[in-house]
Amino acid sequence: MTASVSAPVGFRFAGVGAALPEKVINNVDLTAAMDTTDEWIRERTGIGARHVGSSTSELSIAAAREALDRSGLQPADIGQVILATTSPDYICPGTAPAVAYALGLDCGAFDLQAACSGWVYGLVVANGLMLQGLDNILVIGAESLDRITDYTARDTGILFGNGAGAAIVQQDPTGNGRVLGWDLGANGAHVGILYSEHGGFLQMDGKEVFRQAVTVMQRSTNAALAMAGLTVDDIDLVIPHQANVRIVDAAWKKLGFSQEKTVMILERTGNTSAASIPLALADALHEGRLEPGHNVLFLGFGAGMTWASMIVRWEGTLTGTAAW
Ligand code: COA
Repeated sequence: MTASVSAPVGFRFAGVGAALPEKVINNVDLTAAMDTTDEWIRERTGIGARHVGSSTSELSIAAAREALDRSGLQPADIGQVILATTSPDYICPGTAPAVAYALGLDCGAFDLQAACSGWVYGLVVANGLMLQGLDNILVIGAESLDRITDYTARDTGILFGNGAGAAIVQQDPTGNGRVLGWDLGANGAHVGILYSEHGGFLQMDGKEVFRQAVTVMQRSTNAALAMAGLTVDDIDLVIPHQANVRIVDAAWKKLGFSQEKTVMILERTGNTSAASIPLALADALHEGRLEPGHNVLFLGFGAGMTWASMIVRWEGTLTGTAAW
């Protein structure tokens, strides 16, 4: 699809989809492979189960197909695909072209690697492409983390799972839906606290990741709020990256957000990296937690370290997805 540079008008979600593989590993299942307990994992992380199986492209296609169906748009309407993932099908090529092909799209398609912040990075990039005249941008967050997770390792094996969430974002001619503020950040000094080598498993300094995550969540939220000219009290719903409930609790204590305004799905999914925020968005829609005029904060952080946030004034009346 080609676009002409034109005045941007607003930002809204046209459709959201989600996909989780059928196979579930719960905490009790993990006790067969490592010295742990359901109680320990729940108490230290808030996780009860994680999904495994399927590939990043398969999960992407399923989530994107649902987003497309729910948007009422046709494949020819999609102007760009951005696939945020840290577990692509291949090192080369990216996974996005195969996903676009399977969906019958005729547009640009690329992978975006910003680990768990990837989907929010993708939203910011999509907003930028809209400023160049593109419309109806499919932003997918998808992971098959079981390929890089050692389910016998007590630190990482308890955390990660597979899944995908997808959203089609579009210009909002009414101007009611808008991007109010955003923030993107990275600090490569922390590469070594969470990484996976080619062909290897995720390696992590859990305590340091925890500490850095709490810090960058505050920093990124404050930057996005400042750009939006809003305060914490003006935010109606926060959809944070789902890594550990204790990380969110610790950040919220410093920021002043309430649990009531927070979407958490971690208990059912574990950490699905780039997929976690769109999966949580799908859940929030399913629960009817989003209303036109709400100020919604998407807040991601992850390996790199990277972090990303976006505050959107919500427009539209979307509903939940088949995954929930
Ligand atoms: N089950 C049972 N016991 C475990 C365990 C497990 N899976 N993992 C560690 N333990 C034990 C340790 O051996 C230690 O025992 P000891 O006190 O007798 O020596 C104790 O529990 C504490 O271990 P520690 O490693 O200090 O745990 P922790 O409180 O730091 O929790 C994590 C570990 C991984 C849950 C936590 O560090 C974490 O979640 N960090 C953030 C990770 C993250 O979110 N990564 C993704 C970011 S996008």
